[in-house]
Amino acid sequence: MRMKSLLLSACLSLALAPAAMAQSVTGSGVVPATAANSAERAIGFAANAPAGVALVVVMTDATLPPLDGVALGAAERTAVTAAIAAASFDGKGGTTLSLRGIGTYPRILLVGAGATPSSLALAEAGGKAAQELKSEVQPVAIAGAFGDVSAADVAYGFALGQYRFDRYKTVDKKAPPTGAVTFVGANPSGAEAAFTGRWKPLAEGVRLSRDLANEPANVIYPESFVARVRETLAGTPGVSIEVLDEAAMRRLGMGTLVGVGQGSPRGSRLLLIRYRGAGSSDAPMAFVGKGITFDSGGLSLKPGAGMGNMKGDMSGAASVMGAVVSLAKSRAPVHVVGVAALAENMPDGNAQRPGDVTRTMSGKTIEMVNADAEGRLVLADANEYVAKAYRPKAIVNIATLTGAVVGALDNSYAGLFARDEALAARLIAAGTTSGEELWRLPLHKDYAERMKSDIADIRNSATGQGPGASLGAHFIGFFVDEATPWAHLDIAGVNRSEKATSLVPKGMTGFGVRLLDQLARSE
Ligand code: BES
Ligand code: ZN
Ligand code: MN
Repeated sequence: MRMKSLLLSACLSLALAPAAMAQSVTGSGVVPATAANSAERAIGFAANAPAGVALVVVMTDATLPPLDGVALGAAERTAVTAAIAAASFDGKGGTTLSLRGIGTYPRILLVGAGATPSSLALAEAGGKAAQELKSEVQPVAIAGAFGDVSAADVAYGFALGQYRFDRYKTVDKKAPPTGAVTFVGANPSGAEAAFTGRWKPLAEGVRLSRDLANEPANVIYPESFVARVRETLAGTPGVSIEVLDEAAMRRLGMGTLVGVGQGSPRGSRLLLIRYRGAGSSDAPMAFVGKGITFDSGGLSLKPGAGMGNMKGDMSGAASVMGAVVSLAKSRAPVHVVGVAALAENMPDGNAQRPGDVTRTMSGKTIEMVNADAEGRLVLADANEYVAKAYRPKAIVNIATLTGAVVGALDNSYAGLFARDEALAARLIAAGTTSGEELWRLPLHKDYAERMKSDIADIRNSATGQGPGASLGAHFIGFFVDEATPWAHLDIAGVNRSEKATSLVPKGMTGFGVRLLDQLARSE
């Protein structure tokens, strides 16, 4: 008894101790896990533009707006107006016109936001400006036809658009644009308050998600993922962190989560971050993300081409953490628990074999017929644990779950599966507002048939062809109590982008941070 409790407390302290930063796995870890990313432009607000800047003007149509606080004389205004006419620039969203040699400005960049722009359209104009100016080293001033406080929306977009991940480049590295960016308007303190109260923390959350997903799998693995999140949240009020290590999960009977990671020398983790904002006394909403830090397919090994992109198979978990960072750092009056189901899926002598039967913590049995259908396995145990330990009022899963969703929706929408109409409607609305859009796909009761096992309660992959994204969703839903409102987002088509858009540079997108942040605030 004494031995047992000693052992238990040793395991518990292991589970709760901050993860060691040192790499413990032989033959890897050549790169430190906490390297600082490249400098970004500092964002500020002022009533007057500083001298010596590249000037950006946010336009809503073809007419140059009055630009209080910006030194632009009559002759220079005439020159800009003539250039607008010559180029037929109309100020529509997504358009730009770059001018050089006007007055003393090294560059004047006009960026279209369209007529009566929404907050999102203003952000997109800001993002476009950031990307157009990414190789300019001088400071920047941004003015234009936005209201006094909407400068914060443009700044938010600028923050998302200027993201870069180049910390491992040591040769031919472009000089980072270190000059500050100043947003010029009549109410700089109002704009600054709007920015720091909402958009700056959200941009930080998106940056965390992108960083975690862009980092290679020799740097971000379950333990270092936990460490990076702890570091980001250190000292943030209202936050409490729970970490289960493999021994703790095994004790709890979490056979599907532990099973996925057992082919890897890097231990699995279940990371749970609760954030309870002031004035929120009700049950939390749970966001549960797939955190496969590398998906080789396990013994159901994937083909080599493109396997490197599977370092991003923890994008769901990364975006959950990004949303929690945003909500906590902006002190939002909400109650959420963010969960990352972290494991590395590797082939090995100790890996689980196709045909193995495992058990979740509730005792449900799974015939594991395909080791590459691992995301649904880690989510099964993660959902059961959060339901039991935190009694959430709703559960939203987010996961790079299936290749099939890419075939259905490409990179235009994430797939939404929901058993609860109200939650589905709230998610779709949050998608529209945030700019991270969802398209609903079916969950039909007939799909249960395709996932039946001869020897266990369910199998993790259907035989033959089928509606792959829906079958994956069905599997996850099998482990969630029907009475709990539940939705699942399949982000396999949107977590990575081949080309830059205004708010999302090429690479890992951080999809889901803005959406989940908006969802939590939309009650
Ligand atoms: N992580 C993959 C899904 C994926 C595919 C993400 C492409 C991003 C881009 C997932 O674990 C997987 O391998 N899914 C299988 C499921 C199948 C075995 C039932 C798939 O989609 O082929
Ligand atoms: Zn996967
Ligand atoms: Mn897989």
